[in-house]
Amino acid sequence: MSDRKDVDFGPLSGLLGVWVGDKGLDVAPDPDGAENNPYYETITYTEIGNVTNAESQCLSVLHYRQIVQRKSDNQVFHDETGYWMWDAKEEMVMHSLVIPRAVCVLAGGTYTGAKNTEGSVIMAVAANIDDKNWKIIQSPFMQENARTISFCQNVTVGSGKLSYSETTMVEIYGKVFEHTDQNELILQ
Ligand code: HEM
Repeated sequence: MSDRKDVDFGPLSGLLGVWVGDKGLDVAPDPDGAENNPYYETITYTEIGNVTNAESQCLSVLHYRQIVQRKSDNQVFHDETGYWMWDAKEEMVMHSLVIPRAVCVLAGGTYTGAKNTEGSVIMAVAANIDDKNWKIIQSPFMQENARTISFCQNVTVGSGKLSYSETTMVEIYGKVFEHTDQNELILQ
């Protein structure tokens, strides 16, 4: 790893900092169907810097921690951490995440400069258990009982605003469930 000064984080640059948002909506699996959980959260992105692999690949890396609380009882009901990585040469964005259900995801996508009308960066990453590169790892219990089969996420960031939507497809209770989360956050 190198000095953090002068690192170009590319499309990830706008993520750095502490974000809060209270417009979250989670749709999660429930034995009787689905549960809807309005939520608020804090996401903190910090610099790691440049990371070099095999003396040829150079990644610009951020670490993040996401703490999500249910509005109904203020309990933390989702705790996630991981890294966002930018490979400028390949124009590739990567998102590795772990959640304390013994599920890990490495999602990726290309970024070639997509922006919305306000100039905010729009990034998309995805993973699938059958994909060659972007995969999901999970415990034997989760494989058997609550298997994540895909994950996709869209993130828009710029001008002090961050919004995301993500869909996690989970095989649970005898069917495939579309587990979704979305929120809008403001930079502190
Ligand atoms: C803001 C983000 C998220 C929130 C608020 C959230 C919340 C929830 C909730 C409330 C449940 C129902 C079970 C329970 O009450 O604990 C659940 C289940 C589950 N979530 Fe998430 N989740 C989020 C993101 C994710 C992500 C990113 C993954 C994996 C890539 C994931 C994987 C799962 C799985 C596999 C289950 C099934 C386990 C079960 O219901 O027993 N979730 N989630």
